[in-house]
Amino acid sequence: MCPLPTAQSADLLEWIHSLVVVCRRCQLSQSRRNAVPGEGNPNASLLLVGEAPGAAEDSQGRPFVGAAGQLLTTLLAEIGVKRTDVFITNVVKCRPPGNRDPQEDEIAACNDYLLGQIGCIRPKVIATLGRHAMHTLVSPDLSISRVHGKHFFQQGIFFIPIFHPAFALHDESRRGLLRDDMRALKRLLNETQAEPKQTQTEKE
Ligand code: URA
Ligand code: SF4
Repeated sequence: MCPLPTAQSADLLEWIHSLVVVCRRCQLSQSRRNAVPGEGNPNASLLLVGEAPGAAEDSQGRPFVGAAGQLLTTLLAEIGVKRTDVFITNVVKCRPPGNRDPQEDEIAACNDYLLGQIGCIRPKVIATLGRHAMHTLVSPDLSISRVHGKHFFQQGIFFIPIFHPAFALHDESRRGLLRDDMRALKRLLNETQAEPKQTQTEKE
């Protein structure tokens, strides 16, 4: 992952969002209805990063509001995490047509926004949902089926790759795997909770 920007403020986060909603840096801008910058607590300890908006997200301009989003909200509640306490965004902010995978050039075009958001929020923990977010933020050389539920410490932040909720939507056994990942996330949150969130000055 590239060095993170060092700014930290809700205003800067708002500014990033204002850029995203009018962005034309990649071809996804041509087919989207609404860009989906992300939403949540600008001071969140936990940042969740998904893949890309789907149809429901594209029509509402909000992340994880469709079926996968509802499952995510339920699974978070099961580990005692409220959606309003965390911040939720995606690797690409605009819906790929027909929900195809985001392409490498689109992920690259959108990466500054994601890194900017991480730099502003400075979460203690980033949970990557699914393969694309893990490849973008942790390592392109890892396989999600091998590393899900494990954590990695990079640039002062714990990264924990978990399965994507869409993967478990219609399959009970996969839902069990996702619940295991959620429990691993909960343990990591408990371990990191004792430490105060670093301020920018402490990190420099
Ligand atoms: N899937 C994602 O990866 N992100 C969303 O916002 C919704 C569904
Ligand atoms: Fe811009 Fe990202 Fe949307 Fe592409 S996906 S148009 S880079 S906001």
